[in-house]
Amino acid sequence: MAAPVESPVLARPNIGEELTIGHPEVSDGVACWRIAEATGVLDLNSRYAYLLWCRDFAATSVVARHGGDVIGFVTGFRRPEVPSTLVVWQVGVDAAARGRGVAAAMLDALFDRVPGVDHLEATVTPDNTGSIALFNRFAERRGAPVHRGELFGAELLGNGHAPEILFRIGPVGR
Ligand SMILES: CC(C)(COP(=O)(O)OP(=O)(O)OC[C@H]1O[C@@H](n2cnc3c(N)ncnc32)[C@H](O)[C@@H]1OP(=O)(O)O)[C@@H](O)C(=O)NCCC(=O)NCCS
Repeated sequence: MAAPVESPVLARPNIGEELTIGHPEVSDGVACWRIAEATGVLDLNSRYAYLLWCRDFAATSVVARHGGDVIGFVTGFRRPEVPSTLVVWQVGVDAAARGRGVAAAMLDALFDRVPGVDHLEATVTPDNTGSIALFNRFAERRGAPVHRGELFGAELLGNGHAPEILFRIGPVGR
C-alpha cells in the first residue's frame, strides 16, 4: 500500500496555506463517502467501497485537507489493460470549498504523482457543467487534446441516469 504523502500546495488554490494534498489513508474513506453523499450528484457507493478504495487504490487517489479536515477527494485507478492511462472515477469537493481551485489542484497533484501515465480518462454527464469545466481546463493547462465520446449510454445505466461521456485527455505533458 502506498504510504501517505502530504505536500503543501501553495500555487493555485485560493484557500490559504493550510491546504495539503496527499494520498488517502484507509480512514479517509469515511470523509470521501460523506463528501460524495453531500454532493447529491455523484453516484453514491457504499461506505465500504470508499474504505476499500482508500486501501487498495490509494496510490492513484488523493485527498485535500484543510485544517486537518478532508475537504475534497479524487478516486482513480490505472486501466488494467492500458496502465499508462489514469482513470479518474470520482471527484468531490465540500460545497464550502468550491470555486477556489481545490479540484484542479488535486487533479494536477494526482496526475503528477502517478508514474508512467500519459493519458487521463474521466466520464461526465452532459449536464455537469462543473465537471466538464474541470477536465477541459486540465487539458488546457497541460496543452493536451481531448477526445470525447459516449462510454455508457442511458439504456445501460438505467434508472433515468444520463449518459456518461468519456473524456480522454492526452498525451499529457508534465
Ligand atoms: C465539480 C467539482 C469537483 C469542482 O470542484 P472545485 O474545487 O469547485 O473546482 P475548481 O475550483 O478547481 O475549478 C476548476 C475549473 O472548473 C471551473 N468550474 C468549477 N465548477 C464550475 C461550475 N459549476 N461551472 C462552471 N465552471 C466551473 C472553474 O472555474 C475552474 O476553471 P478556471 O481554471 O478557468 O478557473 C465540485 O463542484 C463538486 O464537488 N461537484 C459535485 C460533484 C461532481 O459533480 N463531481 C464531478 C464528477 S466526477
